[in-house]
Amino acid sequence: MVTGGSRGIGAAIVKRLAAEGVKVVLTYVSSPEKAAGVVAEIKASGGFAIALKADSAISSDITAAVAKTIADFGHIDILVNNAGIYIGKAFDEHTLEDYDQIMAVNVQAVFVAALAAVKGMPEGGRIITIGSNMGDNALRPQTTLYTMSKSALQGFTRGLARDLGSRKITVNLVQPGPTNTDMNPADAPRADFLRTRMALSDYGTVDEIAALVNFLASDEASYITGSFLTIDGGLNA
Ligand SMILES: NC(=O)c1ccc[n+]([C@@H]2O[C@H](COP(=O)([O-])OP(=O)(O)OC[C@H]3O[C@@H](n4cnc5c(N)ncnc54)[C@H](OP(=O)(O)O)[C@@H]3O)[C@@H](O)[C@H]2O)c1
Repeated sequence: MVTGGSRGIGAAIVKRLAAEGVKVVLTYVSSPEKAAGVVAEIKASGGFAIALKADSAISSDITAAVAKTIADFGHIDILVNNAGIYIGKAFDEHTLEDYDQIMAVNVQAVFVAALAAVKGMPEGGRIITIGSNMGDNALRPQTTLYTMSKSALQGFTRGLARDLGSRKITVNLVQPGPTNTDMNPADAPRADFLRTRMALSDYGTVDEIAALVNFLASDEASYITGSFLTIDGGLNA
């Protein structure tokens, strides 16, 4: 199961896992056509995917999507917590609604999905969450809420890795840097500033993030757990 699989990094993860033979359930909230397009592309390539509408901001939506997936397929082997939102503004312009929204999608949904998905998750299971390089390094002003939400995922990853280690389930955090998507277009006003801070001086691609997620999901990554894997072109170097 991949949350937020209709666009951007999530869609690339869904396609990569499906290409490796994984049966993928993806969630979306506002882009039914894009979700259907991802499913159609995978089916046309001989893969298997289905899309479920589930708003990550609503816990019962997440729980229902996970429950349906387990009912249909028996269990979840790989949970990728990808869905996320960005709210960036001057600190004194923030509202409590901003806080509630970003924490609901970026943090609470991750906890809720994992809680539901670990039931019946077999040995060798994987929980992979998409954080951000900003979980380590805020880089610039007007990112307090987003940075806070992504740092919270580090504590989640550390704790859950220890909770699930005895079941040989690994829990890891992928921390992308600027990656060309709707959330962070490579031609946005802030993009040139970010490029000046990167060792590799350019944005990442969604396929590069998906390749790392695919590796973490593979048997070869069985000894990696509780880790934060930053993939940011050296932005945090
Ligand atoms: N792009 C970057 O530079 C970057 C860098 C570091 C980390 N990240 C992280 O990577 C993840 C994916 O980001 P992205 O750049 O691919 O973003 P994006 O292009 O904005 O796509 C967001 C995806 O998440 C889904 N989503 C958003 N809110 C949702 C909700 N309430 N319920 C269910 N699904 C929801 C969207 O579904 P709909 O299409 O249905 O709206 C879409 O599939 C996020 O966690 C983000 O914080 C991104």
